Amino acid sequence: MKRGSDLYEDFCVSCHMSYGQGIPNVYPPLAKSDFLMQNRKASIKAIKYGQTGEIVVNNKPYIGYMAPPGLSDDEIADVMNYITNTWGNKNTKMITEEEVSLVEK
Ligand code: HEC
Repeated sequence: MKRGSDLYEDFCVSCHMSYGQGIPNVYPPLAKSDFLMQNRKASIKAIKYGQTGEIVVNNKPYIGYMAPPGLSDDEIADVMNYITNTWGNKNTKMITEEEVSLVEK
């Protein structure tokens, strides 16, 4: 969790903001994001390979581009565990490095 929080501050906070709230219509929120909490695999994939095209988060469409931040599989697991257990999010099943390594493009 601590490592995930540091990674978040370094690689994600500039777009998704301090409280994971994002920026309306530009950067989707992570806090209470239905996309993040219901699409575990797609979220890992977004962080691993980047995300573009339209996605719908909490009933709002976002058409943007997120470049892959270039994290290793264990760093992606740490940051996923951080963002899925912060700002009111609660994830009962922790994400492992192995799970990240199995997500393909
Ligand atoms: C340059 C800005 C930027 C940075 C930096 C960034 N993102 Fe994103 N992120 C976006 C955009 C834009 C989208 C939506 C892309 C689309 O429209 O397809 C997105 C989508 C997502 C999604 C899926 C949608 C959601 O809200 O649940 C997740 C999860 C996510 N980002 C996590 C992260 C994490 C974790 C980091 C840091 C490792 C990060 N992002 C860094 C801009 C950014």
